[in-house]
Amino acid sequence: MKKELITLAMLAAMVGACRSEKPAEVATVKDHFKNDFLIGAAIPVTHVNGEDPKADSIVTLHFNSIVAENCMKNEKIQPKEGEFFWDDADKFVKYGEDRNMTIIGHALVWHSQLAPWFVVDKDGNKVSPEVLKERMKNHISTVVGRYKGRIKGWDVVNEAIEDDGSYRKSPFYEILGEEFIPLAFEYAHEADPDAELYINDFSMFLPKKREAYVKLVNDLKKRGLRVDGIGMQSHIGMDYPEFDEYEKSIVDFAGTGCDVMITELDMSALPTVQWGANVGDRRDFRKMTPEERKEYFEQFNPYKEGLPEEISVAWNNRMDSVMDLYKKHADKISRVTWWGTQDGMSWKNGFPIPGRTDYPLLFDRNYNMKPFMVKELTNH
Ligand code: G3I
Repeated sequence: MKKELITLAMLAAMVGACRSEKPAEVATVKDHFKNDFLIGAAIPVTHVNGEDPKADSIVTLHFNSIVAENCMKNEKIQPKEGEFFWDDADKFVKYGEDRNMTIIGHALVWHSQLAPWFVVDKDGNKVSPEVLKERMKNHISTVVGRYKGRIKGWDVVNEAIEDDGSYRKSPFYEILGEEFIPLAFEYAHEADPDAELYINDFSMFLPKKREAYVKLVNDLKKRGLRVDGIGMQSHIGMDYPEFDEYEKSIVDFAGTGCDVMITELDMSALPTVQWGANVGDRRDFRKMTPEERKEYFEQFNPYKEGLPEEISVAWNNRMDSVMDLYKKHADKISRVTWWGTQDGMSWKNGFPIPGRTDYPLLFDRNYNMKPFMVKELTNH
């Protein structure tokens, strides 16, 4: 009887993941990892608007945390000074509340998707440090204040450090220097003293970046500022990161006393293009002629018609190892959030080269759970 139930569970997890009701014996991803970490998904506006019912069913069944993929970013939520656009963010928060989920806000201070007005005056010149502080404080207190008590934690500062460990020369840094980071944490804490506050970045497995973040977080804490989590975005690939470097970051970040969070997990199945996760880095191919560009893109987009079996096996094996690493450090990792739900909606189809067909998420384009997770749910 037991065996029959498990077989049923396997089948349901594989083919029935898009059903809205939870079949009695199905192990869900969130239940499976309930003693390890939260299981999150980044949610686009289309999803909360009811335009993707299958993704909705998957998220409702398998995830217990959500983060806003875009709708809480600066340019979306305060596109013009003093003009806040709440519709999408309100719906996103309600979506999470209706499903009793841990809701994460993303992101308060980030150089990308920053409304153009935010750092310049009416003549287009950089604002003074005083004006930028005022704008940051107003933005953070208005956004965090609106959702006070409803959002569990905020990505307060996103992508502030370069891969070599130096400060990113963002407008925030150019105008306020390193102080923009403690100021952002101070303003966020004032706006909701109970909210958890996180710092978040990509390529966190790189040694110099790791060292810089450990130092930065320790400095913030020494100043008495609240920092609850270090977010390792984890946009990873088949050939990076090396596991020992990735693991060292998990361990060292936990050593600051913060929770470690895997905040934006996806793993590209495509050949790696050697650029960073910063959308501003796309310019290289724009210098090419249309013919050069077409030829160049083709070699990086080899699986348009579907993922070959051997690549799928390799992807699932590697993801299996990634999950093993997270489980090994479950005492340090409080949340594992996928940057989307099914492959077709991933930003990786458009970055770093537009128009590719990638396979980076937990569910495939038919909303079927990837084999490594089916195995995880059924074998343990
Ligand atoms: O909203 C406009 C829409 O009006 C317009 O019609 C359309 C045409 O292209 O663009 C829409 O904006 C897009 C936006 O996503 C919303 O879909 C932007 O072009 C597009 O660049 C933007 O991409 C987002 C990217 O951040 C921007 O930096 C991705 O969806 C989002 O997944 C990605 O997420 C970031 C994290 O926030 C931080 N870490 C890296 C991660 C991946 O870049």
